[in-house]
Amino acid sequence: MAGLLLLVRLHLPFLRQRVLISTKFAGDSIKFACEPVGLRLMATIGNNHVLKATNIQKYYGDLWVLKGVNVEIAKGEIVSIVGPSGSGKSTLLHILGTLDVAAEGDVFLRDKKINVLKSKALAAFRNKHIGFIFQFHHLLPEFSALENVCIPGWIAGRKKREVEEQAKNLLLTLGIGERLDNKPAALSGGEQQRVAVARALINSPDIVFADEPTGNLDSANAEELHKLFFDLRSKFQQTFLIVTHNEELARMSDRTLHMKDGKIN
Ligand SMILES: Nc1ncnc2c1ncn2[C@@H]1O[C@H](COP(=O)(O)OP(=O)(O)O)[C@@H](O)[C@H]1O
Ligand SMILES: [Mg+2]
Repeated sequence: MAGLLLLVRLHLPFLRQRVLISTKFAGDSIKFACEPVGLRLMATIGNNHVLKATNIQKYYGDLWVLKGVNVEIAKGEIVSIVGPSGSGKSTLLHILGTLDVAAEGDVFLRDKKINVLKSKALAAFRNKHIGFIFQFHHLLPEFSALENVCIPGWIAGRKKREVEEQAKNLLLTLGIGERLDNKPAALSGGEQQRVAVARALINSPDIVFADEPTGNLDSANAEELHKLFFDLRSKFQQTFLIVTHNEELARMSDRTLHMKDGKIN
């Protein structure tokens, strides 16, 4: 069955904690996540994965960093990856996001095998289909907030005006519509990270990978940014895979993957 994600708002006061139900119907898998908080019933039906990775393995010299990782993310899912420092979370995210290559295994984005693309095609594909948010914003200091958000859209060859309109709307949605002309140095840490989120979203990517996106923020700003991820999912059905040490974010996410010694258990 073609991929389908239903998001229905229901009042489920009798639920005390999240309930995950997985079943099969006519050969298709059907998954429900029912939550009391946010009163949301989410159902994913069929083979609707955006991202699928199989048997990912990676070595740094003699060090076996990833030991056969399998990951599948459905459209509109917010999935967190947690695990001790050095367990391979960033390495995995870089491989899934095509910033690094695996020794073994395949990565599919919407059924397209992407680990076989060559450098020029890969860069173009990454620009259009994948968004990244890192712990440090990596904004270009000499450009304004608006320009920083626009640059990946311009690189993709889209119309200048159209990209600017979308960038303004995104920055407005993210609560920094008044800061368009500020350069990164004239923004707070929370604002800089929100610009980085807008930049990740400018080409409407299939998935956003975030590596400890709130690791450098105070708890109030971190909570704000976490809420924004869920708003963006509600508004745009945006899919996120987020490495985090933040227990609250891991608890809020649809699923948590636990990474240990290069494996996901
Ligand atoms: N470029 C590299 N060269 C050699 N070793 C690396 C490199 N990057 C990461 N490592 C090692 O790989 C392991 C996993 O690192 P990483 O994926 O960054 O873990 P995490 O993000 O979970 O903290 C660590 O032991 C780290 O020291
Ligand atoms: Mg890391």
